[in-house]
Amino acid sequence: MPIPQTVSKEKKSSPLDAMMLSQKDNLAAVNALILSRMQSDVPLIPKLAGHLIAGGGKRIRPLLTLASAALMGYKGTRTHKLAACVEFIHTATLLHDDVVDESDQRRGKASANALFGNEAAVLVGDFLFSRSFELMVEDGSLDVLRVLSHASAVIAEGEVLQLSMLNDISMNEESYLKIIGAKTAALFAAACQTGGLAAGATAQDCQKLYHYGYNLGLAFQISDDVLDYSGNQADLGKSIGDDFKEGKVTLPVILALQSASAEEKIFWQRCVQEVQQNDGDFIKALGILQKHDSLNKSLSQSHDYAVKAVESLKGLPDTHLREVMTELAFYAVNRSS
Ligand code: IPE
Ligand code: IPE
Ligand code: MG
Ligand code: MG
Repeated sequence: MPIPQTVSKEKKSSPLDAMMLSQKDNLAAVNALILSRMQSDVPLIPKLAGHLIAGGGKRIRPLLTLASAALMGYKGTRTHKLAACVEFIHTATLLHDDVVDESDQRRGKASANALFGNEAAVLVGDFLFSRSFELMVEDGSLDVLRVLSHASAVIAEGEVLQLSMLNDISMNEESYLKIIGAKTAALFAAACQTGGLAAGATAQDCQKLYHYGYNLGLAFQISDDVLDYSGNQADLGKSIGDDFKEGKVTLPVILALQSASAEEKIFWQRCVQEVQQNDGDFIKALGILQKHDSLNKSLSQSHDYAVKAVESLKGLPDTHLREVMTELAFYAVNRSS
């Protein structure tokens, strides 16, 4: 199906554009719900939340809920609250994450913590989490409540696990996958599974959607960790080099450490473990990652998870939307924003 050029002006239209187009009316309803449910009589809440929400965001997680439900034949409006709920959980984690990571850019703007302070960002994050639970309760399904509340708990576990392993250059791939599985893939998985539940899909089909989302989430986060070294700030809307600056060990560094020379090991120890960094160290780190082909090797792992995501869709209705979900998995690997 040809995609109208109006969706994305400069760039070639992406699978995300195609998904937005297929869910255009649903997404508009979800965005309206997000705006109405972030309101509060306490002015700082809509001011801060509105700042982050006005910054845009790809809306990939709520789109996954809408698309998963539509794939399974759902045509109603119950998904609107559920998709808004998923985006609120995501937005809350972003507010908290930027405090923890001391990030000053988000969605192409100053981060909420940079603009309003850590205290306000944490508290408004709590408000958005709580709003997400109100939306789940309004939906009324215990199955949905189970899936989404579990995902919220798992995200928090992932962030805490990552914090406890910060600056640890002995971290292995297994621990890395555990962290990103929890902090990122769990919500992608729950977003898809929730769509299936709303559609009344069988438990088996809901599991397929869960596995699609989980593997897509792993691919998405690995690619994000590559972009933290090689991306473009304008495209990404957040600062490049935050992971290195913070001493966060991600897949590119783990892979580079596996074949590091003695001198390189000392470099990673100083920069990541001791967080003693000088001007030029980030460029040097990039050079080492390139020497060991660690960014490409990471993207190749991301691609493997995209393949797994697509395999998980086998047996689900073979429609245009499934094709879009397939392409989205590979887009997650190769994206620049
Ligand atoms: C950012 O997610 C957090 C990660 C899991 C890397 P997105 O890249 O989906 O953020 P927005 O919502 O589009 O800003
Ligand atoms: C994002 O983790 C995951 C969550 C928000 C839970 P990161 O810290 O890796 O993502 P960015 O780079 O800040 O978006
Ligand atoms: Mg972060
Ligand atoms: Mg983080």
